[in-house]
Amino acid sequence: MAPGVGIIGIGSALPAKVVTNFDLEKFLDTSDEWIRTRTGISERRIAEEGVITSDLAARAAEKAMAEAGITADQVEMIIVATATPDAPLPATACYVQAKLGAVNAAALDVAAGCTGFIYGLVVGSQFVRSGAYRHVLVIGAEVLSRILDWTDRSMCVLFGDGAGAVVLGPVDEDSGILSFKLGSDGHMADMLAIPAGGVRRPASLETVKAGLHYARMLSGNETFKFAVRVMGEVTQQALDAAGLTREDLDFLIPHQANWRIIDAARKRFCLPEERVVVNINRYGNMSSASIPVAMEEAVRDGRLKRGDLVALVGFGAGLTWGAAIVRY
Ligand code: UT7
Repeated sequence: MAPGVGIIGIGSALPAKVVTNFDLEKFLDTSDEWIRTRTGISERRIAEEGVITSDLAARAAEKAMAEAGITADQVEMIIVATATPDAPLPATACYVQAKLGAVNAAALDVAAGCTGFIYGLVVGSQFVRSGAYRHVLVIGAEVLSRILDWTDRSMCVLFGDGAGAVVLGPVDEDSGILSFKLGSDGHMADMLAIPAGGVRRPASLETVKAGLHYARMLSGNETFKFAVRVMGEVTQQALDAAGLTREDLDFLIPHQANWRIIDAARKRFCLPEERVVVNINRYGNMSSASIPVAMEEAVRDGRLKRGDLVALVGFGAGLTWGAAIVRY
């Protein structure tokens, strides 16, 4: 019988600099009231100058490895889920590999927008389940503040920087990642995208002048409706795949894009507020980092305990979506 694959260590790294909605009011036509009521966000962390995605990723990974009780040379694969790589080439995971001194690790990035951590978790877990590798690091890390147009109020108020990491390793077969469901719809690829800087529109003076190197969302409202629908559907599909029901769930740990989206998912699964991990008020949307950072907080403050049944669920650019049911 194949062994189980579980989260044997978890860590996070958040920049110290806090930017509140009131700070944004000083240079943008926005208000604390609008941002809080539409999104649930009060403040976010912003990386200091010079701090890059691989720095936050490596810091989070070191904490996860310490908790798992492993050293860098025991890591056999590093997966970094990110929409904000250090550079277009090579993979940010390679910079993390060097920073950690993980001399025995393969390294690759996963690009699945805000669903990146769920995708990375599923990819990494296959290597452990097959017996090919014993320890795989999965990291969601973002410095979104550098791909935002800070004059575009419809986007820049929503996001924040941070990283969360887990070490995957073998566990008893009835615990760890019990099931997952991933999905995508590339017909909606332009809904949330960075228009230039790839081979379709290579970076040029013109693309930079037009601000096409910044992240854009065509319709926040359409993304919102998609998110509400897909979060419920994919979580239910993952529960079905595990042969479990919503009554079995101890916690829902959703991608933190908007408090209203999270609350709609909570209501669909009839969960009381204390069973849903929410930290968007303090960090904004950290894309790939949001789920592992939320999970780490729940572990650290004693809410989430070994043996609890958790649904991790995300959605994002691509469009992509995914959920994993985990016996923590
Ligand atoms: O991580 C995955 C990707 N992202 C998401 O999941 C985001 C999903 N979408 C959302 O969270 C919401 O759609 C938003 C928070 C982005 C927007 O909320 P909304 O209730 O859908 O508002 P809206 O886009 O319909 O805009 C309402 C109004 C507009 O003004 P008019 O046209 O009604 O006069 C906007 O110009 O709010 C205006 N607005 C702002 N006002 C003050 C947009 N951004 C701001 C702002 N401050 N920062």
